[in-house]
Amino acid sequence: MFYRTFSSVDKITKELVASFYELSPNTGFKDDDVVRYVGMGTGHAKGTAITWNDADDTAYDQLSPAVRDFVADQLDDDRIRAWLPGEEFDLTVFQVRNYADDKQNAHPSQGFHQGGGDHVLVTVVAEENVNGAVHLLGTAGDDFSLVFERRLSVGETLLLDDRALTHHCTPFTPMAGGRAQRDVIVVSLTRTDADD
Ligand SMILES: [Fe+2]
Repeated sequence: MFYRTFSSVDKITKELVASFYELSPNTGFKDDDVVRYVGMGTGHAKGTAITWNDADDTAYDQLSPAVRDFVADQLDDDRIRAWLPGEEFDLTVFQVRNYADDKQNAHPSQGFHQGGGDHVLVTVVAEENVNGAVHLLGTAGDDFSLVFERRLSVGETLLLDDRALTHHCTPFTPMAGGRAQRDVIVVSLTRTDADD
């Protein structure tokens, strides 16, 4: 399995959408001064039960209950589990609002990279006025070839093999002036019940 896309519209609650408005601004995400809003959390999934770590010492906000519920719903979805080998995973979750205005372009990613786990789930929860933010997937290793290049719709999830693929999301600007923003949840999964 290289990648799959599917709808997560049935899992996006009002509370989840609202939780992005509670995030604090943050410039520490990468080595630049672009402002983002970031929540972050880690946990461990055993079957469909998730134990969240409460003591993450990061510069980011803690995950709200709505975000934790969303991730739990994803792991409780038979369609997703059918494509995710294993029963136990370490989870790293980023909740990110990127925005662009007349002072800054948004950089959801700074080039092709891998997350360091086994699989990644990227879901677009909401967006407004976005021009750009094209998701790209390429094969990892010496022979790069592009295997995916398109925007994700609101409510769409991209599940990708983080070992076989490298990923990037292009910058974005406001489509029609003013402000553009895009809310995503990224879940990185590392299997802990297998040797490789
Ligand atoms: Fe990434």
